[in-house]
Amino acid sequence: MIQNSKDQSVFNALETAALEVKKRHLMTLFTEQPNRASTYSLNVDSFYLDYSKQAINDNAFKALINLAKYKELETKRDAMFQGEKINHTEERAVLHTALRDSSQISSKFPKITQEIESTKTKMLDFVDAVTSKKHLGQTGKVITDVISIGIGGSFFGPKMLQSALIKNASNTIKVHYLANIDGEQIAKVLGNLNAETCLVIVASKSWTTAETQLNAQSVLKWFKNTLPEKEAIKKHWVALTAKPEQAKEFGIQPSMIFPMWDFVGGRYSVWSTIGLPLALSIGAKAFNQVLEGAAAIDKHFREAPLDQNMPVILALLGYWQQEYFDLNNLMVLPYSHSLKSLPAYLQQLDMESNGKAVNSQGNNIKNSGPILWGAEGTNCQHSFMQLFHQGKQSGMIDFILPAKGHPEYQAQHKLMVANCLAQAQALLQGKTLTQATNELLASGMNQENADSLAKHKTMPGNTSSNMLIIDEITPHSMGALLALYEHKVFCQGVLFDVNSFDQWGVELGKSLGKNLLTSMNTGNKDNLDPSTSSLLDYINKKT
Ligand code: F6P
Repeated sequence: MIQNSKDQSVFNALETAALEVKKRHLMTLFTEQPNRASTYSLNVDSFYLDYSKQAINDNAFKALINLAKYKELETKRDAMFQGEKINHTEERAVLHTALRDSSQISSKFPKITQEIESTKTKMLDFVDAVTSKKHLGQTGKVITDVISIGIGGSFFGPKMLQSALIKNASNTIKVHYLANIDGEQIAKVLGNLNAETCLVIVASKSWTTAETQLNAQSVLKWFKNTLPEKEAIKKHWVALTAKPEQAKEFGIQPSMIFPMWDFVGGRYSVWSTIGLPLALSIGAKAFNQVLEGAAAIDKHFREAPLDQNMPVILALLGYWQQEYFDLNNLMVLPYSHSLKSLPAYLQQLDMESNGKAVNSQGNNIKNSGPILWGAEGTNCQHSFMQLFHQGKQSGMIDFILPAKGHPEYQAQHKLMVANCLAQAQALLQGKTLTQATNELLASGMNQENADSLAKHKTMPGNTSSNMLIIDEITPHSMGALLALYEHKVFCQGVLFDVNSFDQWGVELGKSLGKNLLTSMNTGNKDNLDPSTSSLLDYINKKT
């Protein structure tokens, strides 16, 4: 809220700059500023970010950096790293970064630091014991499969990184994720497994999530069919949770309970013991490299000046496009099959963090986090990119492209790179009516037909995009990539002035879900609205 002349000047400068750039096609900005590619690009750790295809110029960029200063972004960043209770609605600190490098809090919080380090050691020792076949099953068999039961933040991170790091995946241990409550999937996964060679992980920070608890009960029933003796659970079942007492009550052996903490949000938890299924797949060494990559970006975020700070710049560009270009959605396009699960991971990270309607004072706000979606390239080109080239809707775009591909399939990789860069070019340049007409005439078409068809072939272009090049997909660069987006989301939370670390909005659906289950079990539909009641009637008739 604009309160004084200083506020006014910050937002006036942004307004003025927006009017300035809106008058120009992006191509004109390149003509006016030929060195844009070097001015608006940044090389940090494993990344090269090109944001020169964004609708900004020096005035706009300066005004955005001033906005970050005005929002005290650096002070709020440091408060997070120092463990202040910035998650004010839950009165919690936000210290997922300490899981990557606990030295940042060791003097202030020596006890927590010791817990973080001893837990990491315990977890990675367990990984070594299982992967080196020292930890055997109840009947003395080697563990060959892991069933990881968990949803949301207790699923997306390990799953996404495991598919990204397929090159590092063990060929002796296979990890199967059970997130949703879909009997078909559970039957398929369990159908091919033998309890004697399985490790079952129940991953749930709260230990209250209905899907995870029900799936754990179903897997336990399956497990006991093969290994009924009470002892068996001790060797085969593991819990990852901030509620160790509840895990003990479930029957899991204390030595097989790996704690996590309230200061780690679910969607920020892959760095914690929630990462165990990933570590079992890629090994302890690679898991540590994931943490190192994230720690490298933490250091950059903490130390780089705002105008050279990659998470800050990504956040400001997103804010700019939302506030001044009315774009409400962010499309993330990873040009890599192994990064196919990245958009789903980022959906929880960004939308559960900044999908809020009130600011830190509880007052309503005009804007907050974008709708995030996406899919892998080049598949997206043969699906929804048509709309972005010629449709009336638009959105913000992050292209993500690994510079290095599979050594034996260099032709595919070259085509991948060419297509990714070409998509960003086409969105920038578009095709004018004259260009379309001339092409048709050059193809031998007569003037009349060329004139009418050319109208259908024009493309406005002038669509902004970021291009993030990753040197190579490695455990380090993947840790760095997720940390980059975590800090971008943090910065946007500061710019929109929302609490990025609570998620009260998920609770109503859960409690109504519980009530509905009771109605389905008891047949009592008194509290249901007519629509829900008749839906239940229809479903009951069909089952
Ligand atoms: O319902 C949303 C949520 O609470 C997410 O924030 C969380 O990552 C997920 O459910 C799973 O929660 P838990 O790890 O406590 O089972």
